[in-house]
Amino acid sequence: MGYESIDVSPMTPRIGAEVAGVTLANPLSNRQVEELHQALAEHQVLFLRDQPMDVDAHKRFGRYFGELHIHPSTPGPDGHPEILPIHADANSRRIAGEYWHSDVSCDEEPPAASILYLHTVPPVGGDTLFASQYAAYEALSPRMKSYLEGLTATHSGDHVYRRNNALMGIKETGKTYPRASHPVVRTHPVTKRKALYVNGDFTTHIDGLPREEGRAVLEFLCEFATREEFQVRFRWQPHSVAFWDNRCVQHQALWDYYPQTRSGRRVTIKGDRPF
Ligand code: SIN
Repeated sequence: MGYESIDVSPMTPRIGAEVAGVTLANPLSNRQVEELHQALAEHQVLFLRDQPMDVDAHKRFGRYFGELHIHPSTPGPDGHPEILPIHADANSRRIAGEYWHSDVSCDEEPPAASILYLHTVPPVGGDTLFASQYAAYEALSPRMKSYLEGLTATHSGDHVYRRNNALMGIKETGKTYPRASHPVVRTHPVTKRKALYVNGDFTTHIDGLPREEGRAVLEFLCEFATREEFQVRFRWQPHSVAFWDNRCVQHQALWDYYPQTRSGRRVTIKGDRPF
């Protein structure tokens, strides 16, 4: 598909494209926003370089794509609950997104997309991996596809956020975290393509299957879904942006840069109930 107001350079045949020709610190034209929607639908994750922007510009960019989501465990700093700080340094005991996942898939209506901006990155390392869940679904055998038809799986935030809070020394105060059941194979509401929708971090079990069988199937799917041939790997520079579609992408942040600092923030866009 052609683009007139932005430049789009695919990074792999299946997933990922670099986008140039926009300045996120300034308002975008309707045409640019339309073409960014189109590029995201086509490539699932977009990467932009040299985009220094403040919190308001970051939120404005997010709002071109929908209402902003507030994280169930970590609402943002005063006045900006929709901002999720992403920060690691020599004092960190964990990082955000260290295991393969789709953002907050435990929500009844999980986020459609996420926009991560990093202003500070380590000299080397700290890459993020993204895996196309369309490509994973399409590569399954016809027999496996029909086995998965109609199955749902439970996604829970409880063990994820409690683990993270424990590592950060945050005391639990009786807070409960989201839990939801979603189709194992979902249909993307925009592209109508089918994508696998289970992940190793939030998905606890496949509903209604005998325990051993469900565990084996889930383990197979989580491994399969993140194979190298479905991936693109992003090497950050200061002021880079990654914009991914959680409905058809899983991602994982690598923590190979300790004790260096990697820092920025994420804005997350609300989504619909998966079907
Ligand atoms: C996240 O899961 O949003 C964090 C990704 C990253 O830091 O690369």
